[in-house]
Amino acid sequence: MANWIKTLKVADVPEGQARVFDANGTKIAICHAEGSFYAIDDLCTHDGGPLGEGEMEGLFIQCPRHYAKFDVRTGKAVTLPAVGYVATYPVQVEGDYVLVDIGSPTHATKGKVQMTT
Ligand code: FES
Repeated sequence: MANWIKTLKVADVPEGQARVFDANGTKIAICHAEGSFYAIDDLCTHDGGPLGEGEMEGLFIQCPRHYAKFDVRTGKAVTLPAVGYVATYPVQVEGDYVLVDIGSPTHATKGKVQMTT
């Protein structure tokens, strides 16, 4: 069921960077990549690293712990040591804010890794 919430201000997430938003205990990395915003779980599938603290490179974010890369569009791990997907969430911009539908995660649910390709 959709559950849109207001997260961070657009101006607080510069292009090419990510910021973490705590949605009632669910940490979500808001990523600003190539002119669009994406939302993924702040939880690396390898060992729970804080993805939102990683460096971004185009449409990918690199876990700061062991440097696995994830596609912010799909949540898919594209390099080892991570595998599977992190959850992604629908995003829209309304006025000055990034809205995230935390009720509609894709690919995975928090704490579970799904291996679907
Ligand atoms: S915890 Fe993310 S690559 Fe190891």
